[in-house]
Amino acid sequence: MQVIETPQAMQDFARDARAQGRSIGLVPTMGYFHEGHLSLMRASAAENDITITSLFVNPTQFGAHEDLDKYPRDVERDCDLARGAGVDIMFTPTNEMMYPPGYRTYIRVEEWSDMLCGVTRPIHFRGVATVCCKLFNICIPRRAYFGLKDAQQCLIIKKMVEDLNLDVEIKPMPLVREADGLAMSSRNVYLSEAERRDALRISQALFMARDMIAAGETSAAAIRGAMRDHIEQSPLAKIDYIETVDSRTLASADTVKPGVLIAAAVFFGPTRLIDNIIVEG
Ligand code: PAF
Repeated sequence: MQVIETPQAMQDFARDARAQGRSIGLVPTMGYFHEGHLSLMRASAAENDITITSLFVNPTQFGAHEDLDKYPRDVERDCDLARGAGVDIMFTPTNEMMYPPGYRTYIRVEEWSDMLCGVTRPIHFRGVATVCCKLFNICIPRRAYFGLKDAQQCLIIKKMVEDLNLDVEIKPMPLVREADGLAMSSRNVYLSEAERRDALRISQALFMARDMIAAGETSAAAIRGAMRDHIEQSPLAKIDYIETVDSRTLASADTVKPGVLIAAAVFFGPTRLIDNIIVEG
């Protein structure tokens, strides 16, 4: 596995590879890999001639009081894990390379960036869309892989690709859970023992919602209420949102039917965790 640091060297490599007719799969990440990241890398390695993983903790998607400075980092461990998952190139640019002095251009997917996670993180999706567009231009992938834990992020990136006629296929991949159900996230390392235990209430609430739907419940309000009651039994939990929306349009859903995204964001101390399920047919 090769490490490439500069956007110029990365783009030169990608151009050569594409000119030789080789397909590139891109897995954009902020590092501190877990099984969720590795599943994306393996999927890319299986479908493309070359897999690039970008490792860049993107400052433009963090608000002023968020965890940019303490975001977990371990590049050496990440390189070992990526190599094992079939990655050919790790792209590791610095902030200055991606956003040199005088940088001024941002991409914003209107409306969808202000909903769900966008309510409490108003600049987040602007930063995500901008960095992903830059990564697509630098790495020139045929396909790019994103985990469905960030279902809103997947939708926003797909929309950007459609609206801006970008030449890349977005591949949303299944959310990966710990054995006990907690959605895998690099941020799980922030949790104290008690927070880690109580954080399970998020996935439990989602599984409970799935069971209620299987038993015939269709009222989104009833499902959200039951989820809220379950999560609020933990004194450590502070709910940011529990929402039921159409998974293709993010329009609010009053009735739960196949295709509805049930999404939650919950703080445990300063750590904000997200999780979701999509109601199946
Ligand atoms: O999901 C993430 O890790 C980030 O939002 C992404 C897509 C790598 C952009 O920085």
